[in-house]
Amino acid sequence: MKLKNVGIIGLGTYVPERIMTNFDFEKIIETSDEWIRSRTGIEERRFASEEQATSDLAAEAAKKAIKKSGISVEDIDMILLATTTPDYPIQSTACVVQELIGAVNAAALDVNAACSGFVYALTMAKGLISSGMNKNILVIGAEVLSKCVDMQDRNTCVLFGDGAAAAVVSEVEEGYGIISQFLGAEADTKGSLRTPAGGTRKPLSQEVLEERSNFLQMKGQDVFKFAVKALPKATIEALNGAGLEAEDINMVFPHQANSRIIDSASKRLGISMDKFYLNLNKYGNTSSASIGLALGEALEKGLVKKGDMIALTGFGAGLTYASMIIKWCY
Ligand code: UT7
Repeated sequence: MKLKNVGIIGLGTYVPERIMTNFDFEKIIETSDEWIRSRTGIEERRFASEEQATSDLAAEAAKKAIKKSGISVEDIDMILLATTTPDYPIQSTACVVQELIGAVNAAALDVNAACSGFVYALTMAKGLISSGMNKNILVIGAEVLSKCVDMQDRNTCVLFGDGAAAAVVSEVEEGYGIISQFLGAEADTKGSLRTPAGGTRKPLSQEVLEERSNFLQMKGQDVFKFAVKALPKATIEALNGAGLEAEDINMVFPHQANSRIIDSASKRLGISMDKFYLNLNKYGNTSSASIGLALGEALEKGLVKKGDMIALTGFGAGLTYASMIIKWCY
């Protein structure tokens, strides 16, 4: 059986209107704009309104991606939604999005690979379409992290933001689309990035609420050490899979967690920083939305054109890491 070429035929993004600056954080916790900017590169991030859940952001991005792709919503036969911040513990957010956008012919499920989630979901979409099982898959990365981090914990709350990116994935012309991919995971034996309670290991209780363990906790330096190795490793694996060298890549879209991590990856890979697209100064770390948000912004600015070779690379809780090489097809 000849496998089909698979690529992204439409991409859309959405961020909530409310801007939360570093200076806003100075008013609620002991921090400073100088500390946040120099340690991370983040200046501001977007926060969802009280009424907005992850599915609302996802649906807005999805509508734009579908419009751009030129297909009709009824042609979507699968929704793969990458998120760590679902609307509900039970009922996938993908099913909520299916209803919100009217994708009546789509199966729907969530993918939780944290900040690698967008690349994980794109990889699954490629497998399903290349084998002929599906035709048009809507891949979404969406997060409302502002409701899942502890606003009293300065180690985490200043880092994250809310947003969504969506891609319509379909068969594309020969020679274009997703050329190669690499997915990896390794045990987080020290619990360096997880929400310890509120799941089945430690269900919500008065004690949990008092110790605030229903919020995300992170050992920043442990994650940093993992990230500076994982980002280049995943990218090299994907490059090898494509039979390409680092210099063949026009632009890299890394997970937007910390500009120092990206700087280190740039040096290890021998790819200059001007080929890495960064917008974490405006949005912070939006986990599974971050790579798509960066790609969407670059497309809007006309920085990615048909035929460009791009790399998407992420790492995150799990611990997971992932990379993908795409020859852009529109
Ligand atoms: O997408 C998920 C992946 N997550 C990441 O990639 C995060 C990876 N880690 C990092 O980006 C960095 O480790 C951080 C930005 C989280 C922290 O930077 P760091 O240079 O590793 O700082 P640190 O954790 O070693 O903390 C240094 C100091 C500490 O004070 P003492 O103990 O030296 O007195 C912290 O208490 O900075 C303090 N600190 C802060 N100060 C002001 C921690 N958070 C803040 C804050 N404002 N928000």
